[in-house]
Amino acid sequence: MENRDAVLVEKISALKGRRNAVLLVHNYQLGEVQDIADFIGDSLDLSQRAAETDADVIVFCGVHFMAETASILCPDKVILLPDINAGCPMANMITAERLRAKKKEHPQAPVVCYINSPAEVKAESDVCCTSASAVRVVESLDAREILFVPDQYLGHYVSTKTDKKMVFWPGFCPTHVRIKPERIKELKKEYPQAKVVVHPECTPEVIALADEVLSTSGMCKYAQRNEVRAMVVGTEIGIVHRLKKENPDKKFIPISEQAICPDMKSITLDKVISSLEELKPEVKVPEQIRLRAKAAVDKMLEIGRES
Ligand code: 13P
Ligand code: SF4
Repeated sequence: MENRDAVLVEKISALKGRRNAVLLVHNYQLGEVQDIADFIGDSLDLSQRAAETDADVIVFCGVHFMAETASILCPDKVILLPDINAGCPMANMITAERLRAKKKEHPQAPVVCYINSPAEVKAESDVCCTSASAVRVVESLDAREILFVPDQYLGHYVSTKTDKKMVFWPGFCPTHVRIKPERIKELKKEYPQAKVVVHPECTPEVIALADEVLSTSGMCKYAQRNEVRAMVVGTEIGIVHRLKKENPDKKFIPISEQAICPDMKSITLDKVISSLEELKPEVKVPEQIRLRAKAAVDKMLEIGRES
């Protein structure tokens, strides 16, 4: 660790104690931010942690919908997002108003809402899911037709695992669509022993070439298996930091160096310090929306993870 970073880390540790704060960090964050996590994980892990913590302050090192989910689950805590502009472009591809219109076209279909969505959209939904639980959530519903929002590719992946009829919203992740099948074919030739592991936000053409389709924490767990010596990684490249740290003797090959989520990378150690010092920027979901959104998030937490 560089000298400057060591000073910043020391400062964060003192501020955390003073504020009784916990640092929840997503697997795509910058390496130096991952290294100061009290807990690192995927969206489902982080929601579970937020629901359980007895800290007074949660510093969410992730993007806006993740901090909103923490606010939905913990209305009495201060939820900080060190960069208030850290959003998720996919989450911004849907609004509650447009979802209400779509629901009228499919009045019998329950709405399954990927957690990468605004709180107002969760409030219009029957149940939330994450990449680690989407198939299980859809299968749990007693309905023939499901309206799945906002990620069309996660929705498509789930539809290959269930007999239910699924209607998709046309959202997608701009980072994951940079992962291309042609590159996977080349890497398979170059590293024939490596396992190809991709995120379900990838396109169907990419998913068709994968050995495993997993959430980000699912990938970290899979990498620890004895038989996995090398992994071709189909997701945002921030995860490679954690994979290498936990498996120093294994090889990890990102499919695309361009698979970077700029929003995830906007949180820095300096911003974590400022937010702990000033107790802002704070994310707080209005109570009327929170109560309706919480019902959908609680259902997701009850169902738990499949991977
Ligand atoms: P995970 O829940 O698998 O970590 O995915 C979150 C995300 O934003 C993927 O782009
Ligand atoms: Fe959203 Fe994609 Fe970034 Fe995940 S990687 S936060 S889905 S834009």
